[in-house]
Amino acid sequence: MDPIISLQNVSKSYDGRKIIDNISFDVYPGETFVIMGCSGSGKSTLLRLMTGYQAPEEGNIFINSRDISKISKQELDETRKKFGMVFQYSALLDSLSIEDNVALPLREHTDYDDNLIRIIVRMKLALIGLRGFEDHLPNEISGGMRKRAGLARAIALDPNIIFYDEPTSGLDPVIGGVIDELIHDLSRQLRITSIVVTHNMASVFNIADRVAMVHQGRIIEIASPEDIKNSENKYVQQFIHGHAEGPINFLDQNADLVKEFCLLKRRCP
Ligand SMILES: Nc1ncnc2c1ncn2[C@@H]1O[C@H](COP(=O)(O)OP(=O)(O)OP(=O)(O)O)[C@@H](O)[C@H]1O
Ligand SMILES: [Mg+2]
Repeated sequence: MDPIISLQNVSKSYDGRKIIDNISFDVYPGETFVIMGCSGSGKSTLLRLMTGYQAPEEGNIFINSRDISKISKQELDETRKKFGMVFQYSALLDSLSIEDNVALPLREHTDYDDNLIRIIVRMKLALIGLRGFEDHLPNEISGGMRKRAGLARAIALDPNIIFYDEPTSGLDPVIGGVIDELIHDLSRQLRITSIVVTHNMASVFNIADRVAMVHQGRIIEIASPEDIKNSENKYVQQFIHGHAEGPINFLDQNADLVKEFCLLKRRCP
């Protein structure tokens, strides 16, 4: 089977610092591919590259065998219509009702009339269990419901790929489980390919077909959830068990500051 997404030797830097370092992987149609890794490891950057919001300095990103960094803006917009995106921070517009938020992509990308749009929006809201909240504003519903509304908006245009950035962050475990189930159902029932970035280990083991662990901008392991659980990689083990001790050393990130601090202190009387 040909991959639906293929990253080949992709690198990206910010301010001379390599954030994504020579990453390659393939995602297959219908697969739920989970990307996990510590805060700052480059997960959201990877999603921005895969959705064409940023261009890599090196390497190629193919979606449906087309290199998205080489196509015109118009072709990229067309490709993006087949993507759904659920952002790390729900990104609903505060001044619009839930119905209008979900309707936005339909108003922007189709010439459907208002009645048809209203029916589609209600169907999508029903699918994710938000019927009856059409007229509420985002700040009148709970965080979990806002995440679900973001999901309804992501599926408004019947995408074949959905990118999720931390879909369960900030939610209690029960609501997080509900969101995981929705992601799972959408991918199974509608045959959507899902790329899910998450810190949440329950999500990783609930929904993933395959898991990639990112560490300091590199993929250090790609495996099935079962093999990830039994991985011999010490970084993977530290991450999945949330141990403070181990090769992922957060103090390292402060090493330069600590050195500078010590030098300054030594100079001070
Ligand atoms: N636009 C930008 N300009 C400069 N640096 C950036 C930019 N976006 C991200 N970075 C840096 O790139 C690194 C990776 O950021 P990214 O947001 O991809 O991490 P992440 O893995 O998604 O983290 P989190 O789990 O906290 O969301 C961070 O050190 C961040 O400061
Ligand atoms: Mg992020």
